[in-house]
Amino acid sequence: MSGINLKVKIGSLELKNPVLLASGTVGYGNEISQFTDLSKIGGIVTKSISLKPRKGNPPQRIVETHGGMLNAIGLANVGVEEFINSKIPFLKEVNSTVICNIAASSVEEYVECTRILTEEDAIKAFEINVSCPNVKDGGLEFGHNPSAVGTITGRVRGATNKPVIIKLSPNVSRISDFAKIVKSEGADAVSAINTLVGTAFNIWTKKPKIKNITGGLSGPAIKPVALAKVLEISRNVDIPIIGIGGIMNWQDAVEFMIAGAAAVELGTVNFVNPNAGIEIINGLTEYCEKINIKEIKEIIASYQL
Ligand SMILES: Cc1cc2nc3c(=O)[nH]c(=O)nc-3n(C[C@H](O)[C@H](O)[C@H](O)COP(=O)(O)O)c2cc1C
Repeated sequence: MSGINLKVKIGSLELKNPVLLASGTVGYGNEISQFTDLSKIGGIVTKSISLKPRKGNPPQRIVETHGGMLNAIGLANVGVEEFINSKIPFLKEVNSTVICNIAASSVEEYVECTRILTEEDAIKAFEINVSCPNVKDGGLEFGHNPSAVGTITGRVRGATNKPVIIKLSPNVSRISDFAKIVKSEGADAVSAINTLVGTAFNIWTKKPKIKNITGGLSGPAIKPVALAKVLEISRNVDIPIIGIGGIMNWQDAVEFMIAGAAAVELGTVNFVNPNAGIEIINGLTEYCEKINIKEIKEIIASYQL
C-alpha cells in the first residue's frame, strides 16, 4: 500500500481517482473491458446517448493526422431504450463510476433523455455534450451559443438531482464565459475540451479525407490548446473542471491538474493503449510520492504563474 490518497471530488461526485475514460472512445465500457481492469478506473463516460438510435455519418469517418486524429462519427449510438436494455446491465456490474453522456438536437430531447436516465441507479452523473462538431442538428449550433448553452443547462438541471457536467466546446473565443453561464444555471462542473474543428485533403483526388468534410481533431496535437482552456476557466470561474485533450501519460494528467482540473478524461490514447488509464493512475501515485504529498487533490490548480 502506497498510502497515497487519489480520491477527488467533482462537486458532490466522489471519484476513487481522477482518471476517467472519455465519451466516444470506450463505447459503453464493455468494448474496452477485455483490455483493461475497469474496476481500477476512476470513472467511465459513455458514448453520447440520444433519445432515438443514430446511425451517424457515412464513412470515411476517421483519419489519422500528425499527433492526432480527425473523427466525424456523427454521434452514432444505440438510443436511450437500447442503452437501458442492453448496456446498463454491464455498467451496473462494473465497479467504477458511470457518467452518462447525453447529446440531442433540441432542448426538449436533452431534458427527456436526462429525465428517463436519471431513474437508472447505475448512472452517477450526467455529462451533457453541447459541443459535438460533427452533427448538423444540434451539437455546435448549441455549443457556440451562450444563451442556448445556458438554457440547456438550466433545463437539464431541473430534470435530475444527479450531478450535471457540461462538456464545453473549444471552438469559441472565450470558453470561460460559457463556464460562467453554466455555473449560474446550476451545473456542478464543466468538462473541457471537446474536439477542435479540423479537416484534411487527399492531394491527388483533391477531396476531403473525411466524408463530412470537417471532423473533430483530438490527440496529443490538441493538448496545449486544451490546457490553455482549462487554465482560462480555472482563473476566471469557481467551478470544478474535468480536463480533456491529448492526455497520453501521467505527466500530461498532472499538467492538467496543475492547470486547474480536478479530474481528467482520456480519449484518443485508448485507441493506442487501452490500458493507459491504469498506467496513468500508477504514475499519479508515484508522482505524489516523489513530491512528498499524501493526497493528489493538493495539486489541483496549484499553478505558479
Ligand atoms: C472517435 C471519437 C468519438 C468521440 N465521440 C464523442 C461523443 O460521442 N461525445 C462526446 O462528448 N465526445 C466525443 N469525443 C470527444 C472525446 O470525448 C474528447 O473530448 C476528445 O477526443 C479530446 O480528448 P483526446 O484528445 O484525449 O481524445 C469523441 C472523440 C473521438 C476521438
